[in-house]
Amino acid sequence: MYVMETYTRLPVSFVRGEGVYLFDQEGRKYLDLVAGIAVNALGYNHKDLIDAICEQSQRLMHVSNLFENPWQEEVAKMLIEKFWTKGRVFFCNSGTEANEAAIKLVRKYFKEKGENRYRIITFYNSFHGRTFGSMSATAQEKVQKGFEPLLEGFDYAIYNSFDSVLKALRKDTAGIMLEVIQGEGGIRVANYEFIQKVQELCHNEGLLLIVDEVQTGVGRTGKFFAYEHFDLKPDIITLAKGLGGGFPVGAVIAREKVSEVFSPGSHGSTFGGNPLACACAKVVINKVSELLHHVSDVGEYFKRGLERLKVGKVRGMGLMLGLDLERDCSTIVRKALEHRLVINCTAGTVLRFVPPLIIQKDHINTGLAVLDRILKAR
Ligand SMILES: Cc1ncc(COP(=O)(O)O)c(C=O)c1O
Repeated sequence: MYVMETYTRLPVSFVRGEGVYLFDQEGRKYLDLVAGIAVNALGYNHKDLIDAICEQSQRLMHVSNLFENPWQEEVAKMLIEKFWTKGRVFFCNSGTEANEAAIKLVRKYFKEKGENRYRIITFYNSFHGRTFGSMSATAQEKVQKGFEPLLEGFDYAIYNSFDSVLKALRKDTAGIMLEVIQGEGGIRVANYEFIQKVQELCHNEGLLLIVDEVQTGVGRTGKFFAYEHFDLKPDIITLAKGLGGGFPVGAVIAREKVSEVFSPGSHGSTFGGNPLACACAKVVINKVSELLHHVSDVGEYFKRGLERLKVGKVRGMGLMLGLDLERDCSTIVRKALEHRLVINCTAGTVLRFVPPLIIQKDHINTGLAVLDRILKAR
């Protein structure tokens, strides 16, 4: 009664987690195929993550960015080693913040070059966050409605339509920002040729390519970054969600020529990349790097299992899967909860599966059996 009603909450309160399971107040056990919406990459109560949190919090939880921060340097080095080229990282606390930083980088990059370019092309059904820049980048009426006027400088194109991108292009366009799999938009995977053409356009027109990896990144699709499936060389990528394994950590990674436009005072965050956040990210990056084959393997197994249900279109990669029922799926989520299965419905008609990356095939079999029962009973 005291919290603002910004969420439609399901009638259950989880008090504990273990591996891929959540437990409610009555001790009932639920199989979790949502993982805090692609956040709890290592599942719940992961020993290494808990040890890192305990150890770091006893030493130093937070220290201001006024001082040297070797923890950030270490995590940034790990991330840059996975990025395709030399670059630098800025740490923040969430996906929307990472995208705000990316938008600022784009604007400053062209200002420093003396070019009057600031517009960014984004896509219908995208999701980039709820703060003003990210919300304005998010071409969804339901997200923006009531908050106008929005931040100026975004032009929207149809996902997977290169013609539409060309139509949105202006002489002051500075960049193109996209998700290679639209998560909130209904697990819609970009077409390889489309993405290649977008990259070529960026190259030819001198535009920056920004890939929002907030949901797809950190091993979710079986590669550390999902853009790797599409042979992209982005200028900027944004991360959050899985990066801290449940602890809030966000990051923007930019190639060298872009990252260098941020100088002292350009941007900042009180909490961003504090020692505790970095301790979590370090464990997650190491562990997830070992899990990539597993994610591809169990992801493929899960996908085939969903296809065998023959109830809708299956989309996605690795452990970021969607089952489009082409009808409202919110009641199915409630039904699943009664059967102790945690799933999620996105874009109205799509059941979304983004489980902990440690999930095993027998868990998937259990989840599929419950889904089969619920969907057949309808
Ligand atoms: C692709 C993408 N970008 C950005 C965000 C916003 O992240 P956050 O909720 O951490 O601000 C989300 C959240 O769902 C997302 O899926």
